[in-house]
Amino acid sequence: MKANDVRRAFTEFFVERGHASQPSASLIPHDPTVLFTVAGMVPMKPYLTGEEPAPWPRAVSVQKCVRAGGKHNDLDEIGRTSRHLTFFEMLGNFSLGDYFKREAITWAWEFVTEVLGLDPERLWVTVHVSDDEAEAIWRDEVGVPAERIQRLEEDNYWRMGDTGPCGPSSEIFYDKGPDLGADGGPAHGGEDRFVEFWNLVFMQFEQHDDGTQSPLPKPSIDTGLGLERTVSLLQGVDSVWETDELASLLAAAATLTAVDVSTADEEQLVSLRILADHARSTSMLVSDGVFPSNEARGYVLRRILRRAVRHAFLLGVDEPLMAGMVDAVVAVMGDAYPELA
Ligand code: SER
Repeated sequence: MKANDVRRAFTEFFVERGHASQPSASLIPHDPTVLFTVAGMVPMKPYLTGEEPAPWPRAVSVQKCVRAGGKHNDLDEIGRTSRHLTFFEMLGNFSLGDYFKREAITWAWEFVTEVLGLDPERLWVTVHVSDDEAEAIWRDEVGVPAERIQRLEEDNYWRMGDTGPCGPSSEIFYDKGPDLGADGGPAHGGEDRFVEFWNLVFMQFEQHDDGTQSPLPKPSIDTGLGLERTVSLLQGVDSVWETDELASLLAAAATLTAVDVSTADEEQLVSLRILADHARSTSMLVSDGVFPSNEARGYVLRRILRRAVRHAFLLGVDEPLMAGMVDAVVAVMGDAYPELA
């Protein structure tokens, strides 16, 4: 399956189960507590907290996300891991006071094993240390062997930011095999080996700035399936850089910098990956109306652009190159995001 097939299959699966399909919201959130849209739930926050009535009890979206500033910031990881990106797409299903853990868990399993066709023997799940209920659903209703269910603390408690909706979560991991790291499951094994690709958050509380929490009006569901990571599993490649869309951008970066990928050393590959990633995030941010500046979002955009240009320099390019990368982003992502053109 290619990225576009996964976008379509996910949306169809949840529309068939009564979810209203929502277009991606802007990367510039309405909510002032986060700099960028960092997850599919950001546009849903007013419905989760009860500030506004939810227009639908269930929704599904393919949400553009940027994690490059504030609490959710992956900027320094880019190019050095197999799975971090400043811009990525999050496929999510949401229950706004409607269904809760049972449906979220059983549908996620059905989608992963039956629609995506991932081998159930390679799947592990984690739940929050306190969450007997989620563990019982995974073990007794879905049939995941008890030894492939692990309990984690903070890693299985998701927060939107310093304030906002939060709750215990349950994550689904894929074991890419012993060549990629130590055994022991997600709790103890290698991070490149056990790849987390879907986070199911059982939204129950709102965190306030005085440190207290209050219950949400109704327990809700917020899930996030990382598109690029999932596509890397489906395409049987070791990293997101080898998936169809990012591989095209990496090839464009190699052409524009005249780097021969087959002989490039690791630092050159890191620079090419940074160019591919940063070209996507800067194109998407500018397309949504962010402008380079000295503060807040504009400053983060400026930092990302600067990093991209510095890495082009490191590869020996001393002429403007980002415009060429933008053309590549439009060619690769233009079908899913026509506004880019
Ligand atoms: N909000 C959760 C996350 O970002 C699930 O979508 O991981």
